[in-house]
Amino acid sequence: MAQLFKRWTNKIPIAVVAGVLLLVAGAIGFFAFFGSPRYTDVGYRPMQPLPFSHALHAGDLAMDCRYCHHAIESAAHANLPPTQTCMNCHTLILPQSSRLMPVHESWGTLRPIAWTRVHLLPDYAYFNHSAHLAAGIGCFSCHGNIAGMTVVTQSQPLSMGWCLGCHRHPEPNLRPAAEITSMTWQPDADHARFAAELAGRKKLNPPQDCSGCHR
Ligand code: HEC
Ligand code: HEC
Ligand code: HEC
Ligand code: HEC
Ligand code: HEC
Repeated sequence: MAQLFKRWTNKIPIAVVAGVLLLVAGAIGFFAFFGSPRYTDVGYRPMQPLPFSHALHAGDLAMDCRYCHHAIESAAHANLPPTQTCMNCHTLILPQSSRLMPVHESWGTLRPIAWTRVHLLPDYAYFNHSAHLAAGIGCFSCHGNIAGMTVVTQSQPLSMGWCLGCHRHPEPNLRPAAEITSMTWQPDADHARFAAELAGRKKLNPPQDCSGCHR
């Protein structure tokens, strides 16, 4: 009787198994890399020229974010505070502290403190702080609990998928204007109604088309 299958066809199952294994390994590698903090930058916390602590200033001392980042509600970019802002207090508070040396040096030389950027979008993506704050999105939604951080750490991926996730469905992140900088505010049981009313009144319309963010 003629053989229906040639002898080499015995190897097909092995080849299929090997192929599937390779694919699985590839997929794991793909997600391990592209989903990892290294790719998404979540957890990024560069060294700063001096140990400035948000946990102390914005947490324990309860200073409002806008005392230092004062331009944030009127400008696309949040300013970092000029040395003058630090000197408002540190001419009197701990003037001899070695940790404050870079502040006094900057004050003397008139050269700004060289802080290292933590959050950074590529140039081809357009972002505007003031538009988001006016819409009722708080710092917490995008930066996490800054007032609990001794060193600022990136807590969200800032990827396109992340932006779009909120743009498609911003309601859970909407809060009253007075709570924009609060790190402890919690939505109440009636949040859905509040959010729908706010979105309607402000006619919120987060862009989902390419030209909204790539202009
Ligand atoms: C006393 C002044 C001061 C206050 C108050 C303050 N900040 Fe800052 N902030 C700074 C300084 C200085 C830096 C730069 C050094 C650093 O990254 O720690 C900074 C950096 C940041 C960054 C990172 C910027 C980057 O490079 O990406 C974020 C985000 C931020 N602040 C958010 C907040 C929020 C939210 C609050 C309120 C809860 C707040 N800050 C309150 C002074 C302040
Ligand atoms: C909708 C998300 C979102 C909200 C809300 C938000 N930020 Fe940001 N923040 C970002 C992104 C994205 C960047 C990086 C911007 C870039 O690279 O152009 C950033 C950057 C910063 C920076 C660095 C300087 C700059 O503008 O690039 C500071 C400081 C900062 N944010 C502080 C704050 C504070 C304080 C608040 C609340 C009052 C706040 N942010 C609210 C997303 C947000
Ligand atoms: C509203 C007043 C105020 C402002 C403005 C302020 N600080 Fe402070 N800072 C304090 C107080 C209070 C302490 C804690 C003093 C203590 O521990 O006795 C402190 C502590 C510090 C320390 C720790 C010093 C040490 O030796 O432990 C550093 C560093 C620091 N501040 C940096 C800054 C920088 C940088 C700025 C400007 C971006 C700034 N501060 C703005 C009030 C302020
Ligand atoms: C937590 C929610 C949230 C996140 C995260 C978010 N957005 Fe938005 N964004 C909004 C809302 C709400 C509006 C609507 C504002 C309005 O219609 O007044 C908006 C509006 C905008 C606009 C139009 C207003 C303007 O500035 O011209 C741009 C552009 C934009 N977002 C870019 C981005 C980018 C880029 C990111 C990611 C880096 C991002 N957004 C992340 C909620 C969010
Ligand atoms: C809500 C804002 C927003 C919208 C809408 C948006 N993008 Fe993006 N896009 C971003 C941001 C932010 C980045 C940078 C992401 C990063 O750095 O990881 C980006 C990155 C990209 C990149 C670079 C590759 C990558 O994935 O990092 C391409 C290509 C791109 N966008 C194309 C598009 C196209 C095509 C559309 C329309 C279908 C679109 N974008 C709509 C915010 C947006």
